[in-house]
Amino acid sequence: MNVLTFASNEELSAYAADYILDLVRAKPDAVLGLATGETPIGVYEQLVDRHRKSQISLRQVKAFNLDEYAGLSPDHEQSYQVYMRKHLFSGIDLPPEQAYIPCGIADDLWAAARDYDRLLNEAGPLDLQLLGIGHNGHIGFNEPGEELNAETHVVKLTEETRAANSRYFQSLAEVPQYAVTMGVGPIMRAKQVLLIVRGENKAGVLKKALYGPVTTRCPASLLQLHPRLTVLLDEGAAKEL
Ligand code: PGA
Repeated sequence: MNVLTFASNEELSAYAADYILDLVRAKPDAVLGLATGETPIGVYEQLVDRHRKSQISLRQVKAFNLDEYAGLSPDHEQSYQVYMRKHLFSGIDLPPEQAYIPCGIADDLWAAARDYDRLLNEAGPLDLQLLGIGHNGHIGFNEPGEELNAETHVVKLTEETRAANSRYFQSLAEVPQYAVTMGVGPIMRAKQVLLIVRGENKAGVLKKALYGPVTTRCPASLLQLHPRLTVLLDEGAAKEL
């Protein structure tokens, strides 16, 4: 694994944006796995900026997001559909029909999850998966537990995750109890993984993930087994390494 530490979020985000655009330059029809949350916002900002300035086109790219809340409509302010449109898709030339996000509102979420896997498998493997890490070691919404699921699945969010994400909602009660997430299969099959972690409050879980035992209790620890993992950190996140 390649671990790089940056002095500022700007530098970290710039590196990640260049990394992604270099990949697209080399492979214009790249299949990208994308993440949401606070961490990638700077990366997407820089991607949009570089896209405008460089004219690198993402017209042939396919993008698959990791997850979506169950029960939030695609227009809900906190849905990842809205997040992706706001932070990335509205600023680049990726055709909307090539931007896939798990469906959180189907009558049969499991059937929709299987459809998502079918699309992923047809397009995949992912050329690159961009990932953050949760305070509890989750990747996507693959929460710690006795087992992990390889395929896209419906997941009950842990109270830790709901509490962490409640800052975006009016109250904890409004945070969905369930989500749909890509499983660990496509993440581990991705040709490369770019893990970005910021902040001292992630330093402990990051150390466990990168250097602790590989365990379903810390889903990010599986990444130790990935043949091509790049980890981008700020100084806070790197503190315990
Ligand atoms: P964050 O989320 O970037 O908002 O901290 C990361 C995650 O939960 O994967």
